[in-house]
Amino acid sequence: MPSYAITGASKGIGREFVRQLAQSPSNTVLAIVRDPESPGIKALAQAHSNVHLIKANVTDPQSILAAAEQAAAILDGKLDVLIHNSNSVDMATFSLPPSKVPFDVEATRSFYEEPVRTAIYGAAWATNAFLPLIEKGDLKKIAHITSSMANTEVILGTGVDYAVAYSIAKAGMNVQIAKYAAELAPKGIKTVAICPGWVETHEGPKPPQLVEATEIMLNQFRKMEPDLKGQMPVEESVSQQLRVINGLDAARSGTVIRARDFKA
Ligand SMILES: NC(=O)c1ccc[n+]([C@@H]2O[C@H](COP(=O)([O-])OP(=O)(O)OC[C@H]3O[C@@H](n4cnc5c(N)ncnc54)[C@H](OP(=O)(O)O)[C@@H]3O)[C@@H](O)[C@H]2O)c1
Repeated sequence: MPSYAITGASKGIGREFVRQLAQSPSNTVLAIVRDPESPGIKALAQAHSNVHLIKANVTDPQSILAAAEQAAAILDGKLDVLIHNSNSVDMATFSLPPSKVPFDVEATRSFYEEPVRTAIYGAAWATNAFLPLIEKGDLKKIAHITSSMANTEVILGTGVDYAVAYSIAKAGMNVQIAKYAAELAPKGIKTVAICPGWVETHEGPKPPQLVEATEIMLNQFRKMEPDLKGQMPVEESVSQQLRVINGLDAARSGTVIRARDFKA
């Protein structure tokens, strides 16, 4: 009876994890969301009795601790797999290269803060809150969802000079997951940072600026992958990511894995 808790489950990749995991009635799936009234995830929970919605904000430590308490009550104190997927970016500075970091302490803090709060603080708070449950679980796995934007070969190969704070936050996430692997190996807990690929998670019609930004990114990514057609469907990315989690073993604990390259 495997159990899974997924943060940032209201939409996109997080909600698709919930949808795919809910298909197996033997799974218990905890969808951790800031707003349990979000229509897509609410409908999933109504349609599947093995999906439980828990309200929490990963950037508020008391809120995520309270979520872990609720999870313990539902799961009899044990959790098999935690997937920390939540992410937030500041769109006002996302397109800027590093030379635009302002000469102002507060403005600089705000330039970096948003993705760091979800990728590093939120990842640590969510992991630490659920750790007592994971220690008692059978599978003992923790996955943080990272990005190839943190990979310096990808930065140099594509020439992507924007998404500075996001990329740095995910690079920090990759280091933090390795630290968790080093700390938790004696307890039999495996950790991994998964790159989901370039995934279509936008819902509804795309505004013209987004269409233009997607085209620019496609051309940049094609410098490394000339045959790339565009963004991957979210269903495909999540099924690849679940293969990584299923196949995660002690030998690969603490590493960064590109989901589509994973061979079990
Ligand atoms: N899509 C891609 O191409 C791609 C590529 C590489 C990596 N990734 C990574 O994959 C993950 C999912 O991406 P996505 O495209 O599905 O993102 P998304 O559609 O923007 O969804 C992000 C999720 O994070 C939640 N969230 C944001 N701030 C939160 C907070 N403080 N506490 C709790 N939840 C919070 C959002 O919930 P609300 O609805 O409450 O805002 C939402 O459910 C992210 O970690 C992202 O960095 C995505």
